Amino acid sequence: MKKFISIISLAVILSACNHYQEKTQWDYMGAFDMYYSKAYESYAPNPNMPDGKTLQTVPAGSIARDAEPPYPFTNKLADRKKAGEKLKNPIPMDAKNLARGKQMYDIYCAVCHGKDGMGMVTKDTNTLYKKKLYPVPPANLNTDLVRGYPDGEIYHVITMGSAIMGAHGSQIRPDDRWRIVNYIKNGFKVK
Ligand code: HEC
Repeated sequence: MKKFISIISLAVILSACNHYQEKTQWDYMGAFDMYYSKAYESYAPNPNMPDGKTLQTVPAGSIARDAEPPYPFTNKLADRKKAGEKLKNPIPMDAKNLARGKQMYDIYCAVCHGKDGMGMVTKDTNTLYKKKLYPVPPANLNTDLVRGYPDGEIYHVITMGSAIMGAHGSQIRPDDRWRIVNYIKNGFKVK
């Protein structure tokens, strides 16, 4: 009897398998809505929408929640100066922010500008530079000239790049860009 029950159960269980996996097999209590969602699938046709599609394009000008608003300046030199006049640094220059600024600078900027800001790529030891494979050396950032730029101008260079330096706006969060500005302005010191 036990054997008989096991064989019957096995047969029932195996009958639920679909070799081709193209469609679901018999469902149990299929009359209830738990099995079949009333919601439209993203790519299914949808008679309620004017264009007949479920998935709709986002309206022009939409900004994702928590996303950075569009940056109002272009990478032209005149805009770099304008950014210097208009943008105000919202991040206080305290120990915590300077430490974070250093951390971000060391990750994103030190490869070219050097940990001390004095241009690692320009150092004599650098083979790329010695072989003249780097057309324009990264600027020395540990100078009175750079410290004299308005905060917004340095923020702008990080966001949009500068001549051959690439833009870093998509990689570094706005508040962290300001922290890097603070760190540069503070002469690469965290206190
Ligand atoms: C791939 C190399 C590279 C990286 C990474 C890089 N820079 Fe630069 N940067 C340059 C070069 C080259 C220049 C100078 C030439 C130019 O302006 O095109 C420059 C110029 C600058 C200037 C302008 C200096 C002036 O007097 O006009 C600032 C400010 C600056 N970088 C800051 C940064 C900061 C902050 C970071 C990190 C977020 C960074 N850079 C990352 C290569 C780099």
